[in-house]
Amino acid sequence: MRDEIAAACSILEAGGLVAFPTETVYGLGADAENTEAVANIFRVKGRPTNHPVIVHVSPEADIEYWAHSIPREARSLMDAFWPGPLTLILPRAPHVPAAVSGGQDTLGIRCPSHPVAVELLRAFKGGKGGIAAPSANKFGHVSPTTAEHVRQEFALELGNSLGLVLDGGSSAVGIESTIIDMSRMATRGPVLLRPGYITVEDIASVIGLAPGAADSGAPRASGTLSSHYAPATPVLLCAPELLSRRAALLRGKRLPFAQLLHSMADEPGASATIRLPADPEGYAHGLYASLRSLDSSGAYAILVETPPASPAWDGVLDRLRRSAFGSESALDTL
Ligand code: TXA
Ligand code: MG
Repeated sequence: MRDEIAAACSILEAGGLVAFPTETVYGLGADAENTEAVANIFRVKGRPTNHPVIVHVSPEADIEYWAHSIPREARSLMDAFWPGPLTLILPRAPHVPAAVSGGQDTLGIRCPSHPVAVELLRAFKGGKGGIAAPSANKFGHVSPTTAEHVRQEFALELGNSLGLVLDGGSSAVGIESTIIDMSRMATRGPVLLRPGYITVEDIASVIGLAPGAADSGAPRASGTLSSHYAPATPVLLCAPELLSRRAALLRGKRLPFAQLLHSMADEPGASATIRLPADPEGYAHGLYASLRSLDSSGAYAILVETPPASPAWDGVLDRLRRSAFGSESALDTL
């Protein structure tokens, strides 16, 4: 891996793109201080350029280099959860290119815990650099949790605009980092922009304040678009009874269906079935790989058993809702 890390640093320092593992999902990285390189991320991903990306830094990074007026509460969250799956939105230091934040005056910053990501960040620019990275998938698609997923997403770009994919195995957490806006601490307090493995309760236990829900003044976040993380096959989120009825409808029409379950019994006649653990961590770990696999099963629709409505499941439920957005109409014509 040491040679690959060195190769990755050379590519990044030359303005190229490298995909790398993190504990949440794989990232598509570029030198955060190279405006052209950051522009390349948007081009390769097919993402609109006004969408901000997260800057990843090493555990030893000087956060004041990247952000100014860092609230005490943000420091406490870094101490408690970094390295780890938490992104903080802070006021952007003026010399950091606006391209990384889609022109906004804030910056999303996170110190990941995956050993390969840490090794890369410690090596890049002697540990003083930042790697801007969104998830390594085409805009709106399901995020990658293995190196193979990344190679599938960017088969055409690999070896050209995407220099290298570092393989760090399958991402342990499996869904993107929790994002907390700390840039308006004095006026609004902490605001939750994206739920994840680190829950609102975890945040509250450290700073004594539960993050509020995003409001219209909150910084824009593409992971918060209604339709995101979506397979090509319609995803239908349904409680067990409804899932059974829909399975019966599709069987009756001789349309193949796939099912993603965690507690109910299998519906007979599915073209593909995946059962995930009935705990939120285990479920999140397997979620994206399952959606990818069921998406390629040739099904007319993917029936997903709705997970429990408890705070620990918020991150999973959020991703499933976005995957399912707009899919209900697939049943309209039946
Ligand atoms: O777990 C993760 O966060 C992964 C890994 C690779 O670190 N990254 C990731 O990146 O999910 P991406 O670009 O797919 O999602 C980043 C989210 C987006 O919704 C983006 O809009 C938001 O972070 N974000 C980044 N900087 C921001 C800023 N300055 N203000 C508001 N939102 C920001
Ligand atoms: Mg993404």
